[in-house]
Amino acid sequence: MTPESSGARRRAAILISGRGSNMAALLDATADPAFPAEIVLVLSNRPGAGGLARAEQAGVPTLVIDHKQFDGRPAFDAALDAALEAAGVELVVLAGFMRLLTAEFTRKWLGRMVNIHPSLLPSFKGVHVHEQALAGGVRFSGCTVHFVTADMDAGPIIGQAVVPVVPGESPDDLAARTLSAEHRLYPAAVALVATGEARLEGGRTVYAGDAWARVTLT
Ligand code: GAR
Repeated sequence: MTPESSGARRRAAILISGRGSNMAALLDATADPAFPAEIVLVLSNRPGAGGLARAEQAGVPTLVIDHKQFDGRPAFDAALDAALEAAGVELVVLAGFMRLLTAEFTRKWLGRMVNIHPSLLPSFKGVHVHEQALAGGVRFSGCTVHFVTADMDAGPIIGQAVVPVVPGESPDDLAARTLSAEHRLYPAAVALVATGEARLEGGRTVYAGDAWARVTLT
């Protein structure tokens, strides 16, 4: 029997680099015992990440693996992988984790690692996303949850939420409204991956029935 069919909660780790508001939304959602995943570890690559204190408050084990202490990405990713294995992690949730991961690491966790990005991918990858969206003159922006592959911000899309752009608004205004949408979308998407209602198959996301509607937010 797989964990998915046994009803056991999947053991998830959240990886952060900063303030951790998406992490907080996930901690709130997973506090409900009916949520199909539990957070067993919050891991940061930055010792000063604001989210660490919030995780400690929630009683979740935290760990800092400072990338600056490593000689290159492969060594850092190997330490990351060892920590995830030691904690018995089944699902890796990137939440504002601002490090590129090696192809080897992404291959190992393929289909079991997800990320949230504050644009409607495949538009506006990388950084300064809201500046890019405003410069592009789009009427709609939003956020995307996707499976992580070796190519940055390019893995198969699991879910998206749409955020209308207000003419004349600043990048910070758009970022704030997008963040609220992220906090709704991410727990819903993580739940689908945890239950197996959204899974990676042949390079595409496959959904059970109409589960896609729970991560298609307009
Ligand atoms: C979020 O907007 C997230 O989508 C973005 O960083 C922010 C982290 O905020 N991630 C990326 O841009 C990844 N490419 P948080 O720490 O408050 O969750």
